[in-house]
Amino acid sequence: MTFRVAIIGGGPAGIYAADLLTKSEADVSVDLLERLPVPYGLVRYGVAPDHPRIKEIVKALQRVLGHPDVRFLGNVEFGVDVKIEDLREFYDAVVVATGAMADRPLGVPGEDLPGSFGAADFVSWYDAHPDVPRTWPLEARHVAVVGAGNVALDVARVLAKTADEMLATDIPANVYDGLRAKQATDVHVFARRGPAYVKFSPLELRELAHSPNVDVVVHPEGFEVDGASMEHIAKNKQAKMVLDTLANWVGREPTGKPHRIHLHFLEQPVSILGSDGVTGLRTERTRLVGDGSVAGTGELTDWDVQAVYRAVGYRSTALPGLPFDHAAAVVPNAGGRVLDLDGVAIPGTYVTGWIKRGPVGLIGHTKSDAAETVAHLVAETSHTATAREPEAVDRYLAERGVEVATFAHWERLDQHEIALGAAQDRPRIKVVDRDEMLQQGRALPHGHPTAV
Ligand SMILES: Cc1cc2nc3c(=O)[nH]c(=O)nc-3n(C[C@H](O)[C@H](O)[C@H](O)COP(=O)(O)OP(=O)(O)OC[C@H]3O[C@@H](n4cnc5c(N)ncnc54)[C@H](O)[C@@H]3O)c2cc1C
Ligand SMILES: NC(=O)c1ccc[n+]([C@@H]2O[C@H](COP(=O)([O-])OP(=O)(O)OC[C@H]3O[C@@H](n4cnc5c(N)ncnc54)[C@H](OP(=O)(O)O)[C@@H]3O)[C@@H](O)[C@H]2O)c1
Repeated sequence: MTFRVAIIGGGPAGIYAADLLTKSEADVSVDLLERLPVPYGLVRYGVAPDHPRIKEIVKALQRVLGHPDVRFLGNVEFGVDVKIEDLREFYDAVVVATGAMADRPLGVPGEDLPGSFGAADFVSWYDAHPDVPRTWPLEARHVAVVGAGNVALDVARVLAKTADEMLATDIPANVYDGLRAKQATDVHVFARRGPAYVKFSPLELRELAHSPNVDVVVHPEGFEVDGASMEHIAKNKQAKMVLDTLANWVGREPTGKPHRIHLHFLEQPVSILGSDGVTGLRTERTRLVGDGSVAGTGELTDWDVQAVYRAVGYRSTALPGLPFDHAAAVVPNAGGRVLDLDGVAIPGTYVTGWIKRGPVGLIGHTKSDAAETVAHLVAETSHTATAREPEAVDRYLAERGVEVATFAHWERLDQHEIALGAAQDRPRIKVVDRDEMLQQGRALPHGHPTAV
């Protein structure tokens, strides 16, 4: 009997889980339910537009969606269009792979002022997510970015580069126009710990210096490397490469390019200043305490910035009818088996990706994650298959007026976006509007002059 699995979330974690299920010994059929009309999650709506090589991974993901035992059911939101009880009726097992979309709070006064932005929201804007406003205020000349991870680097780079540098990418017209109006000259990135402990990847850091319009300025104040830092880099090759690059740049004078990215270390934000809008950022100098962590020194600095971007991590959100660990912001689990409030595994319910282990790690990590989850799922659940009709969920959604965007829809929209790009000698131009996405994905009516 065919074992039917619903995966909630069409990002890389969900797609890798689908792939592994089709490769398992079980006779399986998989439905991937995705709230957006398109697949790929943060690969499409997180990875920066000027990182086209990373986005190439969608070619492998697309092959999984084309597998005969996998159906993509886009434009279907779990918790709105279907409930967990419905999925239990239609499927033998459920895998939650809803990732993370929100910003983790910074937790300082002034965080909610106009001009204080979550990195996740800004990323969604420049990556043309359909569910966010089409415009973004970019009047600030001096900007702060809080956090020292790769998202902070993405945000700082997009704020500092010119719109024309971004024009070779897949950004739509509203994003290009927004970036053209951008006034930022100086982007200040603040790391609360020392340079050995930043979470940048070596390649992403070095890339900052590739723009012909951006000087990278590493400020010597706070550039401290103690014994613990040396021990840390001795055990961590990536951290050593990052520190070497930063050490090479420290104190180097800007060369006169029109925009600058400043990197500051040992500066912890304590408040965002302003009454009607951001007028500054107050930071406290920290000191290394010898174990990788830092302590405040009481020395405060007010930075003259008109916008603050908080890039201190993403956060997953709770899903209706499923347990959630609010402190860790994950679905509680043991190796991917979802646990109830008493810590007991809920039969047939699994989790994978960022919502399983938190919002850290690269696309590739979601593959090993899925391997662990799917191994448990197949071993524990695949023999429990009961007769279920694949069409039952289709009827259920149709009765509720949900327009399902299938893989064929995505293939048509994909071709449309590629054609929009080709007309401007670009690889693709993204469609932003949800209705337009759905419309471009619909098959042309039979007999239409351009129908194939
Ligand atoms: C800004 C940014 C840039 C990044 N750049 C890189 C990079 O360059 N290289 C790299 O290797 N990694 C990068 N990463 C990390 C990478 O994106 C993640 O490791 C990966 O996307 C996590 O996969 P996931 O499937 O768990 O979550 P996601 O990619 O978030 O996918 C989750 C999916 O679930 C869907 N969903 C959510 N809720 C529901 C619901 N209720 N019903 C139905 N569907 C739902 C979402 O729409 C989404 O499509 C980046 C991350 C960020 C935040
Ligand atoms: N090109 C790429 O490969 C790429 C691009 C984007 C994202 N990603 C990946 O996606 C994942 C998420 O990236 P991310 O940048 O969101 O997270 P991240 O790597 O965890 O970095 C978060 C940063 O925020 C800092 N931070 C957290 N709380 C803070 C606070 N209260 N005050 C000041 N600073 C604070 C952290 O400092 P501490 O270390 O001191 O906690 C850290 O420097 C990462 O694995 C990343 O590598 C990859």
